[in-house]
Amino acid sequence: MSVALFEPYTLRSLTVPNRVWMAPMCQYSAETSGPNAGVPHDWHFAHYAARATGGAGLILVEATAVSPEGRISPADLGLWNDTQVRAMRRITGFLKEHGTVPGIQIGHAGRKASTKRPWHGRARPTPPRAGSPSPQPGPVRRGPPRPHRADRGTDPGDHRPVRGRGPARPGGRFRGP
Ligand SMILES: Cc1cc2nc3c(=O)[nH]c(=O)nc-3n(C[C@H](O)[C@H](O)[C@H](O)COP(=O)(O)O)c2cc1C
Repeated sequence: MSVALFEPYTLRSLTVPNRVWMAPMCQYSAETSGPNAGVPHDWHFAHYAARATGGAGLILVEATAVSPEGRISPADLGLWNDTQVRAMRRITGFLKEHGTVPGIQIGHAGRKASTKRPWHGRARPTPPRAGSPSPQPGPVRRGPPRPHRADRGTDPGDHRPVRGRGPARPGGRFRGP
């Protein structure tokens, strides 16, 4: 049987130089609030750059939220503003320079949004207003985390994050470097 691990893999117009691919893995290491909330910083750069210089053919950047309310934890990466896009381009640019195909997992955590970082007690939601409460269509009684309920009469604008906004929205401006 031939070993294809180090042979290229082509999917439509995309060719990945080998089959050593990195799954998306949340680092829960971004700033949680302020102008740098959700912005990849040196930790993220070093984390992904190290795997690229190690020869990974494709790296899927961790779950990255399309809106503050859609973060799994407040320390997640985001792509809802240009500061985040610029910082992400530093990473994707480095990956490309080293022959690694950059990918990303764009996400909205839905009713599972707004939990604490795993090492702070993942099953517990952040208190409303202290983190990034995500409105839900109604009460869900099973299983943690208990969602923050969107009551009848909630501003319909509260549901916009589910569709995403800013650079990461469908058809948005984030297309890598
Ligand atoms: C620290 C850590 C963070 C993870 N974060 C994510 C994530 O952001 N998105 C995701 O879909 N899966 C995430 N996972 C799951 C991994 O992507 C992967 O599916 C899992 O580790 C199983 O890998 P395997 O299928 O190669 O056995 C995470 C796993 C770990 C260990």
